[in-house]
Amino acid sequence: MARDILVTSALPYANGATHLGHMLEHIQTDIWVRFQKQRGNNCIAVCGDDAHGTPIMLKARDAGITPEELIAGVSAERQRDFADFHVVYDKYHSTHSDENRELSSAIYNKLKDGGHITSRTIKQAFDPEQQMFLPDRFIRGECPKCGAPDQYGDACEACGATYQPTELGNAVSVLSGATPVERESEHYFFKLADFETFLRDWTRSDHLQEAITRKLDEWFTAGLRDWDISRDAPYFGFQIPGTEDKYFYVWLDAPIGYMAAFQALIDERADLSFDGFWGKDSPAELYHFIGKDIVYFHALFWPAMLEGAGYRTPTAIHAHGFVTVNGEKMSKSRGTFIKARTWLDHVEPEFLRYYFAAKLTHRVEDLDLNFDDFMARINSDLVGKYVNIASRSANFITKRFNGRLAGELDRPELAQRFADEGETIAAHFEARRYSQAIRAIMALADEANAYVAERAPWQLAKEDGRETELQAICTTALELFRQLTIYLKPVLPATAERAEAFLQVAPLTWADLKQPLLDHEIAKFKPLLRRVEQPAIDKMIEASKDDLAPAPAPAKQAEAHAEPKKTAQAEKEQADAHTPDDGIIGIEDFAKVDLRVAKVLAADHVEGADKLLKLTLDVGELGQRQVFAGIKSAYAPETLEGRHVALVANLAPRKMRFGISEGMVLAAGDSPHVLAPDDGAKPGDRIK
Ligand code: MSP
Ligand code: ZN
Repeated sequence: MARDILVTSALPYANGATHLGHMLEHIQTDIWVRFQKQRGNNCIAVCGDDAHGTPIMLKARDAGITPEELIAGVSAERQRDFADFHVVYDKYHSTHSDENRELSSAIYNKLKDGGHITSRTIKQAFDPEQQMFLPDRFIRGECPKCGAPDQYGDACEACGATYQPTELGNAVSVLSGATPVERESEHYFFKLADFETFLRDWTRSDHLQEAITRKLDEWFTAGLRDWDISRDAPYFGFQIPGTEDKYFYVWLDAPIGYMAAFQALIDERADLSFDGFWGKDSPAELYHFIGKDIVYFHALFWPAMLEGAGYRTPTAIHAHGFVTVNGEKMSKSRGTFIKARTWLDHVEPEFLRYYFAAKLTHRVEDLDLNFDDFMARINSDLVGKYVNIASRSANFITKRFNGRLAGELDRPELAQRFADEGETIAAHFEARRYSQAIRAIMALADEANAYVAERAPWQLAKEDGRETELQAICTTALELFRQLTIYLKPVLPATAERAEAFLQVAPLTWADLKQPLLDHEIAKFKPLLRRVEQPAIDKMIEASKDDLAPAPAPAKQAEAHAEPKKTAQAEKEQADAHTPDDGIIGIEDFAKVDLRVAKVLAADHVEGADKLLKLTLDVGELGQRQVFAGIKSAYAPETLEGRHVALVANLAPRKMRFGISEGMVLAAGDSPHVLAPDDGAKPGDRIK
């Protein structure tokens, strides 16, 4: 029986570009959703932008636009990012929507009617200049524990201490620099402890991963405190019903955004009903894919809210760890804080899907994107193994058999065994053990290649009278390739589509595993994927250094329990990033570069350097210069002697392992090609 399944990814904050950390989550989700659909289940995925809160309000203010304009722009950009990574949601919505306003009010009213909302007056830091209350992240000062200067209001990055903003020494508002004052205000609270019995029970059953259950045990032991769900004006969010100037805290209406997105979807689709998926007794399954930093909201507040308001609760929370790059936290200065768009500009998106899949487990572990490992894996697994099976057999079918596959397989039992693996691989995908699924699939790809190598069709093709055998072997190889395509399709949807076009078959599903493709015409084979090479990675990292985002306000509002410290560094890096210019320079900037014509007097190999040549240059009035140039791959030294080249003459001398380099010779492209002036130019001439 087909299952009804609703899947969500966390709603990204609408104040910044999509980055590889986000992509891990959306790719993990999308693979699971595509797998479910391919298995014939009725699986629906929704997501949207999380549009509310102080940082978004302030960022819009800084940019001189309305929050609505800001979030519309971010949403459009985000949806392009997702589409280009082949991440598909049935509905991509926004928490700033009518559906969400209505649902949030309704849920709040039900909780209030149930006696689960209380209010009291609290003291909070207030910026007297900006006339607004300050979230913890907008206050900085000296750590009360270690004295480190310039720490956030809730946690110290130097010693890891957590505290109240009032404990900071010499606190200032990030917004105005003014000293915050304490001011009283009435706040509304959700009484989480009312749901302790329910939550203890809910978190005991298999809704959660082991590590999460352990974390929750700690939280239960610490005690479930009332949750502050209101914020004072000015705030970008929904006004709380029955109040004049109180707004829902962004995290109150954020998860309700999942429901709102679903509501917006069913307005477009007659076959779905709201209660069918969200009703108390709904038989549908509900899964939330989230990062480890937002577990508290999803495993405690959210189920309690749903329970309190009379809705169904999630079937399971699927939490993942964080992305690191080359073993370290993503960093702007190292060029490893990579935006989705920067990746798309340089590297094939499906390669990231494949790499994440190859490393994702069902556990809450960080995932390291190591570029050496990445390239090796892509080139060996996808190009060297998977695509290779087809490229080695397809041309014989095209050239010798008019594109027609044989009526029988050379090894039916091998194809049968490949199909029999289907349930094991499916079980891995289902349990989110993607790395194990990929390992099983690549083991089959190895077998397929071994089979082709053993039968050596290129050998038979040279012999007379072995046509039938040749056709049956290539047909078998392509059948194995077809089965592997079915297995890889949740991970590589676009490649699978190209493979389907090549095989001239309808979209492949799991049910197609057991029906071999025989006596069927295929199209001419075109390469399905290209190798990934180092220069593309280098350029992507270089571009990530360049496109430092303008400093946003701190991104995430810390909540006492939410383990916000984990992201503090990343946020700080965002906040520290200086505003970029637009890349345009004035003539005065260009004039600073002293470009000269130089004559190569001598060019020599450099011992121990595989890329460099040592050039001795005559630069006319500037005398002689020694320059180490990375052009060895393209030039034999003797071909350079006597030639004219272009030199950056006022570059600061650089000490290298082999000596001092006194300038830079200009060259074009990766190859590279040295630039030369037309005849007549003399050493020392200025290039203007
Ligand atoms: N807006 C909230 C979520 C509300 S859900 C009702 C939020 N937004 S976020 O933009 O900060 O993060 C969105 C998701 O991306 C979260 O699940 C978060 O864990 C995930 N990630 C953000 N950075 C990440 C990495 N570096 N690595 C992996 N996932 C990360 O939180
Ligand atoms: Zn400290």
